Amino acid sequence: MKKDLNLINDFLQQQQQTHLYRRPRLSESAQQPSMLIDGQQLLTFCSNDYLGLANHPKLIEAFESATKQYGVGSGAAHLINGHNIEHQLLEEEIAEFTGRERALLFSTGYMANLGTISALTEKNETIFQDRLNHASLIDAGRLSDATMWRYAHNDIENLEKRLNRHRDSASMVITDGVFSMDGDEAKLNEMAVLAEQNKSWLMVDDAHGFGVLGKTGAGLVEQQKLTSDEVPVLMATLGKAAGTAGAFVAGDQDLIEYLIQSARTYVFTTAMPPAIAAAGRMSLRLIQEESWRREQLQQNIKQFKQGAETLGLAMMPSETAIQPILIGSSATALKASQQLQEKGILVTAIRPPTVPKNEARLRVTLSASHTSLQIEQLLDALAAVFVNQPIERA
Ligand SMILES: Cc1ncc(COP(=O)(O)O)c(C=O)c1O
Repeated sequence: MKKDLNLINDFLQQQQQTHLYRRPRLSESAQQPSMLIDGQQLLTFCSNDYLGLANHPKLIEAFESATKQYGVGSGAAHLINGHNIEHQLLEEEIAEFTGRERALLFSTGYMANLGTISALTEKNETIFQDRLNHASLIDAGRLSDATMWRYAHNDIENLEKRLNRHRDSASMVITDGVFSMDGDEAKLNEMAVLAEQNKSWLMVDDAHGFGVLGKTGAGLVEQQKLTSDEVPVLMATLGKAAGTAGAFVAGDQDLIEYLIQSARTYVFTTAMPPAIAAAGRMSLRLIQEESWRREQLQQNIKQFKQGAETLGLAMMPSETAIQPILIGSSATALKASQQLQEKGILVTAIRPPTVPKNEARLRVTLSASHTSLQIEQLLDALAAVFVNQPIERA
């Protein structure tokens, strides 16, 4: 029987009443700090374009030139005839950059996580995930045949306790590298030891660390100096700091060969356009050659953190480009976001189910492309909303 239309209407009304209704904003700009959104010129602090590469002229040039050579669509899945030389070269360059034997491209990060976790787990096995892992990892765990346990956020003792209870069936420990809505970093060293002791794969989704963290930008795994034996399954997306789209999994030769045969979201989907891969190759070059972008980003994070501290804002313990201001109620978070928008600043309110109940927040993100003046403008607007005429926190 089809879903009752009354139930659909009830749900929509309830989302409105509980301040959880969402709608896409309409952008008429390239991804950059100042954007025309819903007809209003706004200074944005909510993008994941951490290095300011999404609209970089060299990426555009690489994209255009590949389009002229290879057209737009890839036409088929990688295993049919969609695997272009640009895909192949990008995979080889990612493998070299991340210090792994091989890398495999997926069309999105969501698909990389679904495909990898379901391919690597079986019935009667147990996987362990941080409670605050990204939805795509959690969904992958739910869809896999394995049993999933979620341990307390970044709590190594709690993970160890759970692993001890399921020692015989443990097969994967899975974590965000940088937590997407909190900005803090996973304790990979300790996790790697536990995973090894329990003969489990450690999988790290470094969507928000890749390009940004580590000396060369290879991510949290580089920053925390972990080898490919310690983190055998490394996943990251290319739609954030790398400024393009898609994702990869990097690891040993056999792992990647196994995923090619078994990851259904790799096998049964059209390959990303070759021009996206060509732009990705240029992005990889800029990430490595232009380390000033990481330095500028660090400078911007420092400026914002100092300013937020002076204002006494409820910041979360994050050293990364993700600097959430914890609010609590969804209604208040929405109101604060609206008030900022009236002052020409866009910081979106993040509400459940993206974050736990009563933990709605403003997820401020910084980019190397923000100027010091723009960060001051953000701080002035935050002062007006939270300090000068304090918004009532529910
Ligand atoms: C930690 C994390 N993993 C995976 C994804 C999904 O990647 P994609 O947008 O490429 O599907 C995201 C965000 O989009 C993310 O924040």
